[in-house]
Amino acid sequence: MCSVVGYVGKRSCRSFILEGLRRLEYRGYDSAGFACLCPRDSRLLYAKAVGRLENLEKKLKKEPIDGYVGIGHTRWSTHGAVTEHNAHPHFDCNKTISIVHNGIIENCYALKRQLEEAGHVFFSATDTEVIAHQLEVLLLSHVTLKKAIIDLVNKLEGAYAFLVLMENYPDCIVLVRKRSPLCIGIGDDELFIASDPLAFAGNSSKVCFLPDESFAIVKADQIELYDFKGHALPIKVQELTIDWVNQERKGHEHFMLKEIYEQKEVIHATVDFLRQISNEVWQYMGITQETAQSLKSFNMIGCGTSYHAASIGKFFFEKITKIPAYVHLASEFRYMPFFPSENSVYLAVSQSGETADTLEAMRMLQTHHVPTVALTNVASSTMVREADGFLLTQAGYEIAVVSTKAFSAQLTVLYWLAHRLALEKGLINQQQMHMAQEDLLVVAQLLESCMENYRMDITHSVAKEYAQSQNFIFLGRHESYPFAQEAALKLKETAYRYALCYSAGELKHGPLALIDVKTPVFVFSSQDPLIYQKLLGNVQEVKVRGGHVVAFTFEHQKELQLLADRVFIIPDVKPLLGTIAMTGLMQLLVYEIAKELGRPIDKPRNLAKSVTVE
Ligand code: M6R
Repeated sequence: MCSVVGYVGKRSCRSFILEGLRRLEYRGYDSAGFACLCPRDSRLLYAKAVGRLENLEKKLKKEPIDGYVGIGHTRWSTHGAVTEHNAHPHFDCNKTISIVHNGIIENCYALKRQLEEAGHVFFSATDTEVIAHQLEVLLLSHVTLKKAIIDLVNKLEGAYAFLVLMENYPDCIVLVRKRSPLCIGIGDDELFIASDPLAFAGNSSKVCFLPDESFAIVKADQIELYDFKGHALPIKVQELTIDWVNQERKGHEHFMLKEIYEQKEVIHATVDFLRQISNEVWQYMGITQETAQSLKSFNMIGCGTSYHAASIGKFFFEKITKIPAYVHLASEFRYMPFFPSENSVYLAVSQSGETADTLEAMRMLQTHHVPTVALTNVASSTMVREADGFLLTQAGYEIAVVSTKAFSAQLTVLYWLAHRLALEKGLINQQQMHMAQEDLLVVAQLLESCMENYRMDITHSVAKEYAQSQNFIFLGRHESYPFAQEAALKLKETAYRYALCYSAGELKHGPLALIDVKTPVFVFSSQDPLIYQKLLGNVQEVKVRGGHVVAFTFEHQKELQLLADRVFIIPDVKPLLGTIAMTGLMQLLVYEIAKELGRPIDKPRNLAKSVTVE
């Protein structure tokens, strides 16, 4: 979503803010803006530009403005079209207060009406501008800034993280956080502020994450932190271990490609981590050994790719631990009647650990006192802080908006966890546990070698051929059905092609009517012999109707190989690990199709990396 960045200190703020925004631009990139206070007279100076950050940078080169205190923003629009007026920062009537904001002010229309009736003039269609005008009113009626902010947060409904820069308080920035992350990097008489610490990694090694429902009034050498009632809060400082240098593209044309190729390493790192924590895994997850032994079911919630990983994970849990596993789309689950499952645990699966729907579903679960565990890639994320326990994928920062390496890392954890639970329940022994870990390392190698086997074909001919197709159908069965959903999602996101996904058994209940020679049907096989036979029948149904079949099939599955128009052959692998083996190849093919079509691969239109609004 939107990113906010700020700086107060002894250096000029512009270069830090632009660099911070550049690092976080993958989270939202409709438009960008910057504001600072003029060092001579504390006048508020600002610049905004529609489109990528580079447009703002060009503007700032022509009309340079800078100061020692400033704020910046990249936008992912929610209220109001993508225009310069709607780009942040937003101002009060006199343009002495400026705001950059991530989140949504849910009661903005009611507040705006009141403010307009009182004579305020609005310049944008955003919800953010309401904050500036409301603060303008409150600063007139309150003696202190702190009191005005307390009153302000009581009036605002929704989820937000915003920064305030004011002419009348020239040496400070106000930070306000409710359900959207915000943190401060602490330097030597300087503070770096951002919605994600990646913005200031390398500039500061100490970070303070604002607690939920808190605000801070900061100066270069001072942080005052309060809860929404105005009680002072302790400032908890943590070591910041992330490094920006590691997030470069390292010779690859896109972050997506770099991240696809990192998957073998990521699976290895994740298995290493899991091996290390194996004895304390239940402590990590915030449950006791007894609770683990007595689990009667396993629940998972997530969105997008994380939901697909969880849906594949369901097969791991049910087949390996022999207990039912339920997977819920977080955005639906939150608003459904809730029936707590007895002796269960709820795993919130999320790369970012910040996705609003998953986070809110997790918070809803906590009101029912059921154990929640965050499975995420970001140790400093809100989910890790709020869940009863957590497990971390070791994918490293995922910069491309489309998720690739986080997906295989999630599958790795879920496969491992299913075995670890089976071990705890006495269903497998130590030797089998060891083998499961080794199998993950084997499949990591296969994931990479499958890509290598087909890389030339894909880049030189296959991607070109399928880039011509406008519509696609994706099919799978059992664990390969959510995998097919993931493939279809990847194609939609990166190539902007229509990709319909069905469980292959559903074909004859309607979608068969869509089969024609122009619509490639991508089929992902399964190693389960019965499921494979059923899938073969479904492929026959497509073929006899003139469909063009592209099959991702395992080595021994000769019938499917003969039937399909194009095949990608995956070496036989341990049952259930087939989807991991296919992952890199599927992603590479989609990547090359998108590249062939000239899409902005790392930052697809209309999307943002972590969806921190509903
Ligand atoms: O950070 P999360 O895993 O919670 O994000 C969930 C989805 O927003 C995310 O997977 C999204 O679908 C990606 N764009 C998929 O590539």
